[in-house]
Amino acid sequence: MTRENWTSSIGFILASAGSAIGLGNIWKFPYMAGENGGGTFVLVYVLCVIFIGLPVMCSEMLIGRHTRRNIINAMGKIERLSANQNVRFVMSALSAGMAVAFATMHAWLPVVLALAGVYLFAKKGFAILGWVCTIVALAILSYYAVIGGWIVEYIRLSLTGTLVPEAVEGVAAEAVAKTSQTAFDAYIADPWRVLVGFVIFMAVTGWMLLGGIRAGIERMSKILMPLLFILLLVVIVRSVTLPGAYEGIEFLLKPTMDAFTPQVVLMALGQVFFSLSLGMAITVTYGSYLHKEHNILKAAGWVGVLDTCAALMAGLAIFPAVFAVGLAPSAGPGLIFGALPAVFDSMWLGPVWATCFFFMLFIAAVTSSVALLECGATVFIERLRRGHKRGSRRTAVLIGFVLCTVMGLLAVFSTADWSHMPWLGKAIEASMGDLAKGNWLDTLDNFASNWMLPFTALCTALLVGWGWTPRRAGRELLAQGEDWRIAPAIWGFLLRWVSPIGILLVFLYVAGFLDPILKKL
Ligand code: TRP
Repeated sequence: MTRENWTSSIGFILASAGSAIGLGNIWKFPYMAGENGGGTFVLVYVLCVIFIGLPVMCSEMLIGRHTRRNIINAMGKIERLSANQNVRFVMSALSAGMAVAFATMHAWLPVVLALAGVYLFAKKGFAILGWVCTIVALAILSYYAVIGGWIVEYIRLSLTGTLVPEAVEGVAAEAVAKTSQTAFDAYIADPWRVLVGFVIFMAVTGWMLLGGIRAGIERMSKILMPLLFILLLVVIVRSVTLPGAYEGIEFLLKPTMDAFTPQVVLMALGQVFFSLSLGMAITVTYGSYLHKEHNILKAAGWVGVLDTCAALMAGLAIFPAVFAVGLAPSAGPGLIFGALPAVFDSMWLGPVWATCFFFMLFIAAVTSSVALLECGATVFIERLRRGHKRGSRRTAVLIGFVLCTVMGLLAVFSTADWSHMPWLGKAIEASMGDLAKGNWLDTLDNFASNWMLPFTALCTALLVGWGWTPRRAGRELLAQGEDWRIAPAIWGFLLRWVSPIGILLVFLYVAGFLDPILKKL
């Protein structure tokens, strides 16, 4: 291989890792681990990355590189290449199965969507999968941007030195942590304050996508991302040297059998796809820029390793501190916002570190949100082009932007205190049943990442594994001229059997369909 190819391969890996590493690693992974049994979650997560996430990631990159189309046309083209034309009916059947599972959970809105899926898959085939990926990406952006807004607010707080309310300065770490947790709860309960950050975050995302400062931000993120890793290391050092930190390390790294439940496996599975940016059209799009000389297996392997390292590092930065200052590890989405101010408070030049940290987190989040909006925008562009000739990119970005902002408003206002408007909670409850989680932000996150992402991943695995088949697709996994048969064979096996059966078993397990069998064992 010539030196030039090698360099651009690194470029691809860094770009993909950049899309993968974001709020999912630093905000979501720690709180998910905290809510789902710590070490047990981490172990299941790593296994899911290896056996389910990576094979699916390779398939998405392959689909992109082979077709070089937007997600909808790409899926359609792969289906036309397929040896097996019945895959789409299998998808319809799976959709019907999902409808039944959602019905047992009284989640009527998802039931309706799944039933529509049954019909659409049968009639239109895999192009529908492309649409599902796009819609999920936009839905995820609608609350991703709300978390981005929280980060904006925390940058402001650290800049003004009010990250830790002044009254408690010089007080024990525990008290500091309690106040910062309370301050966070008060903050998200005030929708007007959240709205400011959210609007700034969405505006930056939309502006970047319209071509304003895109190139600059991307160049900047090449420098800032490695710095984020270094800052994480600094926070880890401070965090593990706090008195009482050891318990946190043990919580994060030591699996226990009693923490193992179907729910934990489902959450870990969803988090794998969320964090690796799978099932949202983006990896397919990135793959379409990949040259034939590049080895997809290696690229996917590196992205997986980097992303998992980032998540584990975030865990190591947060949990020792959480235990040292006596916060509850299961605090939920607010975990880092409660724990980190206490860590920074105990550091020399704390506000400076805090500002740098939240700023880099903001850059990491913006590069991801731009990619998410891009998923929708490319689809709209290529679909709109038929009718309109000019200004279609602008229109496409605008459509995506408006959709996400409106959907995001729901998430912004849902974390507020709605006790005077009980019908809102009831509406969420009635439409989402057991999938409902108190507010719309968490409910949508639960539905999109834990149900929709594994479902689209399952479809992708079936399409490539049983339609296109590893025998034909596998040749393209390696760089041209490389001959390394065993790896594509392993990939093919994982993709055909391990990933789909794994995902299916998790669904059946969570919906309770396996209980009668498990009881007999
Ligand atoms: N993986 C990103 C994270 O961990 C979030 C994300 C999900 C994403 N899907 C994406 C980013 C698609 C870019 C494109 O934060």
